[in-house]
Amino acid sequence: MIIAMMLIAAYLIGSIPTGLIIGKLFYNIDIRQHGSGNLGATNTFRILGKKAGIFVTIFDVLKGTIPALFPVIFNQSVHPIIIGVAAVIGHVYPIYLKFKGGKAVATSAGVILGTNPVLFLIIAVIFFTLLFTTKMVSLTSMLTSIANFIGSLFFDDKILMGVSFIIMIVIIVRHKSNIERIINGSEPKINFKKK
Ligand code: G3P
Repeated sequence: MIIAMMLIAAYLIGSIPTGLIIGKLFYNIDIRQHGSGNLGATNTFRILGKKAGIFVTIFDVLKGTIPALFPVIFNQSVHPIIIGVAAVIGHVYPIYLKFKGGKAVATSAGVILGTNPVLFLIIAVIFFTLLFTTKMVSLTSMLTSIANFIGSLFFDDKILMGVSFIIMIVIIVRHKSNIERIINGSEPKINFKKK
């Protein structure tokens, strides 16, 4: 019963469309109508700027981290990533937006942070190294999800491995339009010098 409630709460937390709320509330902009049309942190940076982008990144990461900590908070012996992945499902298929959500990157990172901080630190280093090299968040996100799965193999934790594999597939599938743009050379790159 408590586990079912944790899963439902995780899904509802994951469903919160942070980028959309911030855009509508403070900028009167629906970010789904601009840029890539995604409601994630990257498109928030792109359309609303640094301040909103940083806020949405942190909030979307926490949407994964907090549910992954539920088993500890409520003293339940269930693997944290099982609860965390319900938040990822919420982010990708939010109940509040007719199940049309984001690409799973920040919330998945948050789930890994709450589940296995060592693996999170490793993939964070990989993420930023790839980001500064490729300058493409989408490509970086997909490659990091693969790195996360490979990294999970080094821990004696079959559930971590299995869910990391599923997260990798979800992230790659959700980036279908980005993959098309990367192939035809039109995927936007980050300009790190821009203020
Ligand atoms: O977090 C999603 C990112 O990998 C790509 O976002 O807006 O460029 O499609 P976007």
